[in-house]
Amino acid sequence: PQRSPPQTGEGGRGSFIRMDGSEHLRLRRMLTAEFMIKNIRRIEPLITGTVESALDDLQARGAPADLITGFALPVPSLVICHLLGVPYEDHPFFQARSAVLLDRSAGPAAVRTAMTQLRSYLGHLIEKKRTSGEPGDELLGRLVSERVRTGELEIGELIGMAVLLLIAGHETTANMIGLSVLLLLQHPGVWQRLHDSDEQADTVVEELLRYLTIVRTGLPRQAISDTEIGGHPIRAGDPVIALLSLANRDDDTFGQGDAFAPYREARQHLAFGFGVHQCIGQPLARAELRVALTRLARRLPGLRLATDPAHLPTRDNSVVYGLAELPVTW
Ligand code: HEM
Repeated sequence: PQRSPPQTGEGGRGSFIRMDGSEHLRLRRMLTAEFMIKNIRRIEPLITGTVESALDDLQARGAPADLITGFALPVPSLVICHLLGVPYEDHPFFQARSAVLLDRSAGPAAVRTAMTQLRSYLGHLIEKKRTSGEPGDELLGRLVSERVRTGELEIGELIGMAVLLLIAGHETTANMIGLSVLLLLQHPGVWQRLHDSDEQADTVVEELLRYLTIVRTGLPRQAISDTEIGGHPIRAGDPVIALLSLANRDDDTFGQGDAFAPYREARQHLAFGFGVHQCIGQPLARAELRVALTRLARRLPGLRLATDPAHLPTRDNSVVYGLAELPVTW
């Protein structure tokens, strides 16, 4: 399948999630090693430390609390800022812009402004690293010294990468943490097991990814040759939307796809997409989810909702589904 045309913010290139073929591959390859499982294992202490200190803060502020702003959002945001070398204290600025970019009801002018501001913010940050003589050993700094200075990567391309990683790196995992906690609190036996041991946490995380499939709007593609799906002819050039949430509920593949079965081995789910664009950050996302959920269950075994779940505000207009708020007590 072919991708829709690259979305370019003003003054630069779009990000590689919107590119095809060798152009996409060249940029993606510069990041593959970075997000490989063995490298994510190396940063696990950073993830654990971030989760523990977010829990310290949450407990210090006391119950009731909003678990989204108090835990689900800061954890992945702090981790990706640390990995990229982006100052976390600027998070109100870039989180507000990325919310607009993911909002399907935002008009084109608002989207253009948000993209321009985000590119300009990251462009300045990268420029500072480039001219300082000491770009630093976080990812953006290393890309400056190892790829930009050698001429392999243009500044505009690096800005596109930085925007993509910053948005993808925290919006997704944050929403997964929020929705997962809501679901797990309705399954006290599973919550108790996460509290008792880490042993089956990886299996539970896979089922949460499958069952919740937060990239709800599906993946937009364009057919490059005539084909057929489920008996429906598709012609070259036709737009197609691959609905991950539908595939992930397929009864033939999963058996009772609509049921949340935390200990099933839901390995072949498509929550991270499929093919050449499959999520590069999945080892990081899995580690963040496992650590966040097990540590939360261990610290706050008595965690419970402080509101009627039917009245929780959801992010219905976002490309990435989630909760706007999750009031809890313990
Ligand atoms: C639970 C969390 C996450 C989910 C559900 C998720 C989901 C996805 C999906 C479905 C795609 C495919 C998009 C497409 O084909 O058009 C994707 C791509 C991508 N994700 Fe994630 N993601 C998550 C976490 C992360 C994290 C933590 C990062 C941070 C590094 C990240 C970085 C990316 C990047 C860079 C791409 C583009 C890959 C490419 O085009 O080659 N994601 N993600």
